[in-house]
Amino acid sequence: MRRHWQPAALSEELTADKPLPVTLFGEELILFRDDQGNPALIGRYCAHQGVDMIYGRVEPGGIRCMYHGWLFDNCGKVVVRGDWLPGGEQRMSVGQPAYPCLETGGVILTYMGPGEAPALPAYEFLVKPPARFALTKVRRDENYLQGILRADKPALNGAKFVMPNLVAHQGAPSGTESWVRWHVPLDDNSHEEFTFRYFGESPIAGGLLSAGYQVLLKAIDEILTQRGSLEPAAKDL
Ligand code: FES
Repeated sequence: MRRHWQPAALSEELTADKPLPVTLFGEELILFRDDQGNPALIGRYCAHQGVDMIYGRVEPGGIRCMYHGWLFDNCGKVVVRGDWLPGGEQRMSVGQPAYPCLETGGVILTYMGPGEAPALPAYEFLVKPPARFALTKVRRDENYLQGILRADKPALNGAKFVMPNLVAHQGAPSGTESWVRWHVPLDDNSHEEFTFRYFGESPIAGGLLSAGYQVLLKAIDEILTQRGSLEPAAKDL
């Protein structure tokens, strides 16, 4: 799932001046907006002495830890150490995890996988939301798979399952409701359910489904290759 763009929060949740704590795939993170208003996602605890960045101050250039004043940019790198240090501003090579973000269709998405982020699939409900559109987010205290079965079971027969955690249901062409539900794991026991409801045509085209399938095949191939390269070492032991 980390190899796909995943929703981290609703756009309306993130103001210009306050950081927003989020958890994704068991990682505690903090979202904030940089000087351009673009969302940034970095590790929640300061790389210096682990203070919670929920108390951080959003400023031009990044977010500042309120304990000793280190300033982190939107890539999680330390830009400025406290003014109390001799030499004043110094860029340091330390930092904390940071993940790229995109904002579209009322949500902030992030890519937490290895390497360069792939292009965001051109889901119609994200890039061209229709006029009659509603977006909600609900926290569920259950594994994301349980969530898919509980929430989507009655409609699963007619739904398109876009691996690994997105379910789309198309309404009748006469203009009944269509929806997309995105089940994003916070950890093994809870997830966030993003629901996009609208009146429109197919929310997911066939080309996008096969694009997702290709991502899955590539990931499996890489895992098998890694396993193959480990096996001789294991035999040697
Ligand atoms: S703990 Fe954050 S700057 Fe020291």
